[in-house]
Amino acid sequence: MTVLGSALDTAGAEYAERRAAMLEKLGEVAAEHAKAVAGGGEKYVDRHRKRGKLLARERVELLLDPDTPFLELSPLAGWGSDYAVGASLVTGIGVIEGVECLITANDPTVRGGASNPWTLKKALRANEIAFANRLPVVSLVESGGADLPSQKEIFIPGGALFKDLTRLSAAGIPTVAVVFGNSTAGGAYVPGMSDHVIMVKERAKVFLGGPPLVKMATGEESDDESLGGAEMHARTSGLADYFAVDELDALRQARRVVARLNWPKAHGDPGPAAPPEYDAEELLGIVPGDLKAPFDPREVIARIVDGSDFDEFKPLYGASLATGWAELHGYPVGILANAQGVLFSAESQKAAQFIQLANQRDVPLLFLHNTTGYMVGKEYEQGGIIKHGAMMINAVSNSRVPHLSVLMGASYGAGHYGMCGRAYDPRFLFAWPSAKSAVMGPQQLAGVLSIVARASAAAKGQPYDDEADAGLRAMVEQQIESESLPMFLSGRLYDDGVIDPRDTRTVLGLCLSALHTAPVEGARGGFGVFRM
Ligand code: COA
Repeated sequence: MTVLGSALDTAGAEYAERRAAMLEKLGEVAAEHAKAVAGGGEKYVDRHRKRGKLLARERVELLLDPDTPFLELSPLAGWGSDYAVGASLVTGIGVIEGVECLITANDPTVRGGASNPWTLKKALRANEIAFANRLPVVSLVESGGADLPSQKEIFIPGGALFKDLTRLSAAGIPTVAVVFGNSTAGGAYVPGMSDHVIMVKERAKVFLGGPPLVKMATGEESDDESLGGAEMHARTSGLADYFAVDELDALRQARRVVARLNWPKAHGDPGPAAPPEYDAEELLGIVPGDLKAPFDPREVIARIVDGSDFDEFKPLYGASLATGWAELHGYPVGILANAQGVLFSAESQKAAQFIQLANQRDVPLLFLHNTTGYMVGKEYEQGGIIKHGAMMINAVSNSRVPHLSVLMGASYGAGHYGMCGRAYDPRFLFAWPSAKSAVMGPQQLAGVLSIVARASAAAKGQPYDDEADAGLRAMVEQQIESESLPMFLSGRLYDDGVIDPRDTRTVLGLCLSALHTAPVEGARGGFGVFRM
């Protein structure tokens, strides 16, 4: 039998405590998600509705097949910055006429839907996802263009948005723009670079320069309609392929465009899969509030994979990292999960071997993070921890099967890299509210700074102020702690979202389904030099 057993005592005090801590964090995340959904707030939402317009999320909902899910990405973008949570853009993956598409929708209730630096990051990330997974892109456009006060941050890098659209097209990936309102200046290149363009009557405004600018530039008198209306673009300039009489008609026509894309997936639907043997609800009570206490990731695996069935690879070797094979919603996955926090040489070598096996078999990999990093100390350095960690990082970097990462708990130091952190291009990376990620733990970092400062003072022959040192350590600890939290990291687009642990199986299933739109082909060789 390879069905995992469980030692989780759901009636015990420890479980209750962990569950309560997780629910509290989930409450905090939910409050931030609600801000993104509220967009620009009541005043701007009411004004938008009075104009007879649909909200960004309503547009997305009507575009999708009825009763199908929408995997929203980066909903906390911009969190902790001067800009609204969500960054005036909705992005995600949804099903249109049976085709999984990457959808973006400007939120015109937030500063006219203008793009700030976080909007740009979020939009570029969406394009990256479309590219890697060969998902058609549908852009629901209504934006005031660049957020003018922050133009210095976005004007120059923002050009990549239009480059991405044409490169997607060149790669044969379909792009569709539906214009509901303002799409001027640079924004005009969204329809300009898309394969298929739909514009809404008397609403779309697609011009390089509006009437005031034209008047200034050439003295010509003009109006919005003759410069960039849907009717003009459909009848005269030819920029619009389809003329929609209203928003609903535009969404209907967008669905028809997708229906005709002839976009089959590289790998078909694997069919129904057995649910896990254990209740997903129990995922709330596994991760300790204080990440210093270890937890068994098999308790998590048992609650996310089909039939809780897990064939563990090398269970007796490098036991601080669990590796093994499973299926998730019918898709095969190789799982690497930190079991005791620290990665030693054996764990690193085992990971490198396992990653190569997954590549030989074309099996996607799932990384479940709870690591404090690679082991330090004389014994381990002499044992070659650097070269063994490097083997693991080499394998992760040059692996070509799709990677999925979930930060469950700690994800510190180079352990974050070896476990396929953000910079290692996992196809998707999500965090649980319990996750923390930084170069090292706050106390360690503060301690290191203090030792360095003390040594520096000693070298200069200066006295060291111990009282000031304690204050500094406390301050640094607090700063690092807040910068390690998932909402902070999600705000900076270092993940694709903070998810409820109970949704992990569903979210990963949606990701696995979406990524199988593209062929899954592992690397056969092509790794760097493995130091033995
Ligand atoms: N940068 C920064 N803020 C912007 C903005 C932009 N590009 N576009 C709009 N806003 C702000 C407005 O100042 C306004 O803020 P306020 O409510 O605090 O006064 C808020 O967003 C809503 O804009 P408003 O003009 O009231 O909304 P609208 O729906 O009637 O019109 C636009 C929206 C986008 C058509 C209009 O604001 C506009 O033309 N903006 C400038 C467009 C532009 O030239 N962009 C540069 C292109 S690169």
